[in-house]
Amino acid sequence: MTEVSSLSVPDISSILKSSLFYSNFSSPPKILENKTVVTLFKENSTRTKFSFELAAKRLGANVINFDLSSSSMSKGESFHETLKVLELMGTDYLVVRQKEDQILLPENSKIKVINAGSGKWAHPTQGLLDLFVIKKSLGRTNNLKVLIAGDIAHSRVAQTHIKLHEKLGNTVSLHCSTKTNSKENFLSDAKSCDVIILLRSQVERHSQNYQNHLGLKEQDLCLLPSNSIIMHPGPYNLGEEIDQSVLRDPRCKVFEQVKQNTFVRMGIFNFMEKKSRGYLH
Ligand code: CP
Repeated sequence: MTEVSSLSVPDISSILKSSLFYSNFSSPPKILENKTVVTLFKENSTRTKFSFELAAKRLGANVINFDLSSSSMSKGESFHETLKVLELMGTDYLVVRQKEDQILLPENSKIKVINAGSGKWAHPTQGLLDLFVIKKSLGRTNNLKVLIAGDIAHSRVAQTHIKLHEKLGNTVSLHCSTKTNSKENFLSDAKSCDVIILLRSQVERHSQNYQNHLGLKEQDLCLLPSNSIIMHPGPYNLGEEIDQSVLRDPRCKVFEQVKQNTFVRMGIFNFMEKKSRGYLH
């Protein structure tokens, strides 16, 4: 699964359904027994990396964390050559995070690759996690008005949500944190939204000083609908995109997103196993 475009609406429903199953069931069947999952993170991560590792282990897999600095990639071995080596050694799944947008895969590779965040382009499993939390909080994933605010130009989470909500027929409005887009416009739009997604300022992808002026503050909370939810994929810059008081608001689902990480990654493994066994088309 390298991006959400390859998923149909029934595929998305199937992943959310099995994620719900895993969130309710503490001893899941070991569907990855005798399988090997390698996590290869060329950019840093806490939530995605640990949740994939936990998910794979709970489903019975052997998990290997690929250490770039001690690997032959540090001696110049390419990603494709590395993939071949991992395949010959019996790897079933490769979970990859990288700074480049596209994950270019060789033809005929038997390894199932999962994109754990690539450049500014895609973070499919984060999008599915967020959908799961939306469904859990609001009871639906359709008929939604979604607002995304912040560093949209550098956000793989934003790109993923735009594609997912288009598939689901939801309305998405974008508020880029540029000087021409005012906080008043953002708040005025937020008043009629179901889901407000705040984005991290991706300062590592900026060449100049960058400041997000679309962060939510305590005084903004009274303007938001009582039945809306506030999300952020994390990690957040406290005081910039989101304040402590916003994190404490019952509408804020940021910690719920963290809690559900592992269950949704289990749901994704379940979906990919069913696909590879021909149970889904
Ligand atoms: N949201 C997200 O991808 O977080 P990590 O970078 O901690 O994995």
